[in-house]
Amino acid sequence: MKVLITGHAGFIGKHLTKKLINNGHTVRGLDNYSASKKLELKGLKEIEGDIKNPKDIEKAVKGCDTIFHLAAQSSVPKSTEDIDKDFQTNTTGTLNILKTASKHNIEVINASTSTVYGKPNKTPTPETEPLKPISPYGASKASAEMYCQALHNTHNINVKTLRLFNVYGPHNKKGVMWDFFNKLNKNPNKLKILGTGKQEKDYIYIDDAINAFTKIWKKGKPGQTYNVGTGQTLTVNQIAKKITQIMDINPEYTYTGGKSWKGDVEKTQADTTKLRQINWKPQTTPTKGLEKTYRWWKKQKNHP
Ligand SMILES: NC(=O)c1ccc[n+]([C@@H]2O[C@H](COP(=O)([O-])OP(=O)(O)OC[C@H]3O[C@@H](n4cnc5c(N)ncnc54)[C@H](O)[C@@H]3O)[C@@H](O)[C@H]2O)c1
Repeated sequence: MKVLITGHAGFIGKHLTKKLINNGHTVRGLDNYSASKKLELKGLKEIEGDIKNPKDIEKAVKGCDTIFHLAAQSSVPKSTEDIDKDFQTNTTGTLNILKTASKHNIEVINASTSTVYGKPNKTPTPETEPLKPISPYGASKASAEMYCQALHNTHNINVKTLRLFNVYGPHNKKGVMWDFFNKLNKNPNKLKILGTGKQEKDYIYIDDAINAFTKIWKKGKPGQTYNVGTGQTLTVNQIAKKITQIMDINPEYTYTGGKSWKGDVEKTQADTTKLRQINWKPQTTPTKGLEKTYRWWKKQKNHP
C-alpha cells in the first residue's frame, strides 16, 4: 500500500514510519518539523509542509491509499498558552485532512487522545463515555474527532480513530519519564515530582501502540473509535520507584503539590474491550518498557 503519515517525524510517527517501511509499504511523510527533525530514512519520501495549508496536503497525498494522521500540537500546557494555534493545528488541520481524503477517496486513520474524556465518570473508561475535555488540547482533539464522525456520515469517509492513552518509549522527549531521567541525571539524590505523585495513568509502550495502529487499520470498522491503552495504570510515584530501581539510586522525593499543570487529568484508564476484540493485546510490561526507554535515553548525547 502507499501511505501518507502526517507528523511522521514526531515520537509516534517515527516508530510508525519504520514499521510500515519494514512491512513493505511505500511511505511518505508530511511534517512542518515544528517539533521534530527530518528522519532521512531509506525508503521514506519526506515532504515539508503544513496541515493548516490544504495545498501542502494535496501535494503530499497524491496516489496514496491511506493517510495516518498524527500531526498535531501535542502538548496540554502549550495548548493553554496558545489556544488559537492549538485549534488551528488540531481541529482545522484535521478537517483539511478529511476534506482532501474525501476528494480522493482515501481512508484515514486518525490519532486522537484519551484527553478528550476529561475527568471521566468511570474508569476503566469505555469509548461510549461522553467527551468532556478539560483543556484546550482535549477540546481541539475532541472537535477533530467530531468532524471525523460527521464526515464519515455525510461524505462517506472511511475513517477510524485511535484514542491513545499515555504512550511512552524511545524517542519520546516529553512526559514524566523524560523529565525524571533528566532530573536524576543532574542530581541523583533528589527528585522533584510535579503534583502529588498520586496521578494515575494508563501508560502504553510504543511498540504496543504501533501494533494497535496496524490492527485497527486492517481489522477496525470504518467510522469507529478505539481506546488504545493497556487497561492497567501506574501512579507517578510508582514510575519514580521503578526508574530509580533501574538507575540503581535512592533519591529523596519532593512534591510541588496540587495539579502537575493546568488542564492535567488526574486519572486515566482505558477500557480496552473493543481493541482486544480485534485480537490486540499488550506485549510489554511496564518494567520492560521502562528498561528499554532508559537504555535509549542513556545513549542520547547532550542530555538537557
Ligand atoms: N505521545 C502520546 O502519549 C500521545 C497520547 C495521545 C495522543 N497522541 C496523539 O498522537 C499523535 C502523535 O503524537 P506524538 O507524541 O508523536 O507528538 P509529537 O509532537 O512528537 O509529533 C507531532 C508531529 O507533528 C508535527 N506537526 C505539528 N504541527 C504540524 C503542522 N501544522 N503541520 C505538519 N506537521 C505538524 C510536529 O513537527 C511533529 O513532528 C498526535 O496527534 C497526538 O495528539 C499522542
